[in-house]
Amino acid sequence: MSALLQTQGLGKTFRGLAANADIDFAIEPRSIHCVIGPNGAGKTTFLSMISGHLAPSSGRIFYNNADITRLATVARARSGIARKFQTPSVFHGLTTRTNIELAALRGSGSRGERRARIDEVLETIGLSAQAQRLAAHLSHGQRQWLEIGMLLAMQAKVLLLDEPAAGMTAGETAATGALLQKLVAERGLAIIVIEHNMDFIRDLDAEITVLHLGRVIANGRFDEIAADPRVADVYLGQQA
Ligand SMILES: Nc1ncnc2c1ncn2[C@@H]1O[C@H](COP(=O)(O)OP(=O)(O)OP(=O)(O)O)[C@@H](O)[C@H]1O
Ligand SMILES: [Mg+2]
Repeated sequence: MSALLQTQGLGKTFRGLAANADIDFAIEPRSIHCVIGPNGAGKTTFLSMISGHLAPSSGRIFYNNADITRLATVARARSGIARKFQTPSVFHGLTTRTNIELAALRGSGSRGERRARIDEVLETIGLSAQAQRLAAHLSHGQRQWLEIGMLLAMQAKVLLLDEPAAGMTAGETAATGALLQKLVAERGLAIIVIEHNMDFIRDLDAEITVLHLGRVIANGRFDEIAADPRVADVYLGQQA
């Protein structure tokens, strides 16, 4: 197995409804992998099983070739699998820097190493100049980047991002895409990202998996996906 993280036959049933069914998925190290699909397709359910917030009804999850299907959420987080939810969870009453500091406490290293990491993270997410501002006073986009920064401060190796560009301006959306590409190129992260914004997905230029009614209906790069009539039927067609 060369994949960093992989699922085999992953499924989740809620009272008879197959929210996910038979999902085979693999993300390579140092890469971005997009998961798209219409509302209710099962994207968040899929991410929740990878992060450990939901137990699968069937199938297996492997990380670094180890079976983590039954591993607790905290143990997955400690091994570098870090999740950002659809709604941001920064502390509004604290400064940008303190938010990052609190996250850094959950990583390893000496006090000095943590301090260096905090500065480096602020720089990476483009918020060094906002370090002393309250998170409440940041723009919507900046708060999303702060939350990504908190995952970096925890020394995440795999980022699970649920609609990170939701509600962003076009400029913020483009900056978010550039940030994710930088995290892969400079820090060697792997990123699974769910998004509805097709401009964002196209610009990421990454592998894409399309879900519909809980199943994988297509895999490929943006041009292949956009040309796939099944995808047009269930997803892209809806936006026309
Ligand atoms: N905890 C739950 N209990 C029961 N049904 C659920 C639960 N979570 C999700 N579902 C159902 O599973 C299906 C997939 O939901 P999910 O949230 O994974 O979709 P999604 O692709 O993330 O949608 P969206 O784009 O709207 O965020 C939906 O039909 C949803 O109603
Ligand atoms: Mg969702």
